[in-house]
Order: sequence, then C-alpha cells, then structure tokens
Amino acid sequence: MNHFLSLTNLAFKDFREIFQLTEEVKKNPQRFNQVLAGKFIGLLFEKPSLRTRVSFEVGITQLGGRAIYLSSQEVQLGKRESIGDVAKTLSKYLQGVILRTFSHQSILEFTKNSQILVINGLTDLLHPVQVLSDFYTIYKRKKDLKAIKISFVGDGNNVCNSLILGSAKLGLNLWVASPLGFEPDKGVIKKALEIAKKTRAKIRILNNPKLAVKSADVLYTDVWTSMGKEEERTWRRQLFKEFRVDKDLLRLAKKNCLVMHCLPAQRGEEIASEVLDSKNSIVFEQAENRLYVQKALLVWLFRR
Ligand code: CP
Ligand code: NVA
Repeated sequence: MNHFLSLTNLAFKDFREIFQLTEEVKKNPQRFNQVLAGKFIGLLFEKPSLRTRVSFEVGITQLGGRAIYLSSQEVQLGKRESIGDVAKTLSKYLQGVILRTFSHQSILEFTKNSQILVINGLTDLLHPVQVLSDFYTIYKRKKDLKAIKISFVGDGNNVCNSLILGSAKLGLNLWVASPLGFEPDKGVIKKALEIAKKTRAKIRILNNPKLAVKSADVLYTDVWTSMGKEEERTWRRQLFKEFRVDKDLLRLAKKNCLVMHCLPAQRGEEIASEVLDSKNSIVFEQAENRLYVQKALLVWLFRR
C-alpha cells in the first residue's frame, strides 16, 4: 500500500510526476473526473480544518469520488474504541482515508492496521500535503528551486518539519530560525541531514531570524501556537516576539521575496497584516494550489 504519511515517502522523480499531473489536472479537469468513480474516501479529523477539509472534499468530488467527513466527536479515535479497530473497520467500507491527528503515533498506529490508503492531513509532527503543495507554488513562481534561498522563521512545528524533509529530498537551500528550545524536531533534522548528504541540500537550523532571512527568495512563517497548544499561547507570544514577520524583517530579504504562510494566520502575532496583505504575499495562491496538488496526489496514489 502506498500510504502518504511524510514527504520522505516520495522520491525526487515522484515530486516531478505529481507536479506534472497537477498541471494536467488544472488544465483539463474533465479528463480526470472519473478517476475516483465508485471510491469512498473518509476524512477523519481530530482537529479543526478549513483548507485541508474543503480542498480534499471538493477535489475528491471533482475526481468522481465520494468524501465522508468524520469528526473526532463521532469516532473518538482511541477512546470509543482502539485506533486499530477503527482502521480495520473503515477498511471494510472505504478505499482511502485522510487523517488529521494530534499525535503522529496515532497515524502510524492507524496505518499499521489499515488495508486502505492513508494520507496524512496533519499531525503534531508533520504536514506533508501542505508542504508538497507549497513546493509546487514556489516552483511555479521561481522555476529553479535549487537556485533560491528559502527561509522559515518561527516555531519549529509540523509545517517546518515537513519543509525540512521536503527541502532535503529536493536538494534545496533552507534556513530555519526558531527561538531557543523551539527548534524543529531532532529526529526530523537528523533524517534530513542524512538525506542531504545524497541530494546536496543545505539545511541550516539557527536561532537568529535576521540571519535566516538575509537575501531570502522565499520567507515562510506559521503560527506560534499550533492546534493543541492553546494554553501556551500567552507566554509563547512573549517568547517569539523577535520572530514576527513584519516590514523590518522582510526588508532584509530580496526585494521580490515571496511571503508564505500555510494559514490560518494570527495577524499581528507571527505575521503583521502589512506583510500578509502586501504584494510579496502569496498565501491565497498557496491555499488555491492545495486543491490542484491534492487532486494530482490522489490520482497518482490511486494509479499505483
Ligand atoms: N493550512 C491548513 O492545513 O489549513 P487548515 O488547518 O484550515 O486545514
Ligand atoms: N502549525 C499549525 C498548522 C495549521 C495548518 C498547527 O498545527 O496548528
């Protein structure tokens, strides 16, 4: 089974194939409108979602399939019954499932017991569908991905971890700056550095946002308080202050630097409205591309 749990599941040529398919899906959607005919795909989400849920539901429907949303209240993964039993049961009804869980361990446990395709729709550790789509967005804008400097400033969270793994796979130049103690996951960094030996990616993990942003072609940020950590928000706001993406920080990047954010954004926290709404910002283009790239991913995964 070709599950999609992490960008490390993809080879370099897979990224290329998925991006080519994305172009085709965008140009000629009619050609793909029966690809998922007769297929039922569950969306089992423990956390809220706007983009991931809607883009997948629309995408699945446009591909001729049927999406079934299952809220955490309904299923109560691991509470009403074990994760393994949920996976085994859903495998009898559905052909695929998109999972959004708190713990990454939950998606691994689910996948171990699943006879149907599993796609990671975000865990506390990774957000691969987001970042896959973001690489497509960057590629469309900048073309030569290896020639640019990408910077991520803020919490070393799920989005950041996936950016690191994807950059390692694609051989890119990524600079990450997070406050001390909020660096990306150690296991992720170790894995990325191993991959980078082969791909010649340059991955730098720093605590200095100004250094990370200097002459950047792409500046990415994400919320300081991810879902599930809401009670930490007050002190995180203090601790992360120097990592806010505002006009002053953006000035250190290249003039035509693209500003990216997976959204939802907390305006005035990790990103100032003046930057989020500026002409450098491509955040809604990112949101739009989720639909095309995820459709391409579904076509690609179900073809194999
Ligand atoms: N970027 C993203 O995944 O957004 P949602 O949490 O709204 O799905
Ligand atoms: N890091 C954020 C991403 C939301 C799409 C979170 O996990 O809440």
